[in-house]
Amino acid sequence: MTRVIVLAAGQGTRMKSKLPKVLHKVCNVPLIDRVLNSVVGIDKTPVVVLGHLKNVVEEHLTNSKYNVTIATQSKLPGTGSGARAGFEVLGSLEKSETVLIVTGDTPLISSETLSRLVDFHNNNSDDVTILSTNLYNPFGYGRIIRKNDKVTAIREQKDATEDEKKITEINSGIYAFKFDVLKKYLPQLNLNNAQRELYLTDIVEMSVKDGLNINAIATEDSLEVEGVNDHLQQMNLSKIQNLRVLEKHMKNGVTIIDPNNTWIDEDVIIEPDVIIEPGCYLTDGAVIHSGANIMLGSRIIGSEVGEKANIGPYAYLRPNNQLGVGSKVGAFVEAKNAKVGNGSKVPHLTYIGDAEVGENSNIGAGSIFANYDGVNKHHTKVGSNVKIGSKTVLVAPVEVGDNVYTGATTLVRHDIPSGSLAYSENHMNIVDNWVEENR
Ligand code: UD1
Ligand code: CA
Repeated sequence: MTRVIVLAAGQGTRMKSKLPKVLHKVCNVPLIDRVLNSVVGIDKTPVVVLGHLKNVVEEHLTNSKYNVTIATQSKLPGTGSGARAGFEVLGSLEKSETVLIVTGDTPLISSETLSRLVDFHNNNSDDVTILSTNLYNPFGYGRIIRKNDKVTAIREQKDATEDEKKITEINSGIYAFKFDVLKKYLPQLNLNNAQRELYLTDIVEMSVKDGLNINAIATEDSLEVEGVNDHLQQMNLSKIQNLRVLEKHMKNGVTIIDPNNTWIDEDVIIEPDVIIEPGCYLTDGAVIHSGANIMLGSRIIGSEVGEKANIGPYAYLRPNNQLGVGSKVGAFVEAKNAKVGNGSKVPHLTYIGDAEVGENSNIGAGSIFANYDGVNKHHTKVGSNVKIGSKTVLVAPVEVGDNVYTGATTLVRHDIPSGSLAYSENHMNIVDNWVEENR
């Protein structure tokens, strides 16, 4: 059995943020969640080591779908200190053969690579197996020191000699250990290094001296082990991850006009023959059916867009909209929790919230569904084949029947029966008076 320790106690100073580093997001998913997604295939109840801003991360994890045990790092700094805290908690649980230690800030690490590391470790009967990679610019990372090909040590940047700094094989910070190796060597770590930290990596040199079997296997995809230490790295990895998602959709028949300027979360579903114009951002499990057009600058959060629907330009779909076949939610329209029936159109400058519109109805420009009375939200229902005149305000809760017309600027406070024409007299009078005075 393999148990996992995720190290997430570091300060993350270079993020320059009040938010703990591991809660910063890559493509809308926190770093720690991405790591845990890959870890749970190996260990469903990993130990997560927290320290800096512990309570904030702990609260996030408690409210998440993950089933983790929290360990708290002592005041001693360094990955060795984090590993000690994690191992103490693990050791008090059931004993495992293999312990996988993973950094909490490497968002693109895949479950396949983690499994490959663990499998290699077990099949090879290694005492320690290090996941490494080769970097064109290895600056800042621990280097894998080899003698006649055998790994002899990991040397941190700040402790490395000039020759060692030239080594391009680096330590990812992800390792598989035999349980007993951690048990023996973690207590022996010390602060005798340039950073006055407990280095987990010192276990390598110690155990090599005792004749143990240490290996490093390199992953080809160095992005998998790239950590997020500042907002540049965060955005670089976000961009790469986003492009991977877009590529998948394009191969699946979706037209994305400007992939450098389109963001789609991994949980979004898009059918073939959808066209997505530049500047769109789709998140929270949005579903876009075949033939829909998502025009310039539209934001779609957790909504369903029907076949051949037209969205935007500049539409803002907040959660829970259901837009029918051939429907339209047009320019500068904000919609939330709205059901728009097949063939119905909300073409211009409207807010539609907590509402249902039947089929083949048209909502005139600038109309507002006033759903909020300052305390509660209320629902509006509009029937089929309705023409709502420009700048109509529908004050919820209210119901408009089928085949209704409203005049421009109508204030709808009461239900309107099917087949009627509704208009606001006051508004007509105001216009008449104005005409009168100006004669
Ligand atoms: C560590 C490795 C280095 C490797 C690099 C990969 C050591 C001594 N060095 O560098 O060889 O190339 O990772 O990124 O291990 N963390 C804690 N507690 C701490 C410090 C860090 O839990 O006291 C966690 C961080 O939250 C992070 C991970 O460990 O998830 C890596 O921390 P970071 O400071 O980036 O690693 P380094 O020590 O610089
Ligand atoms: Ca550090």
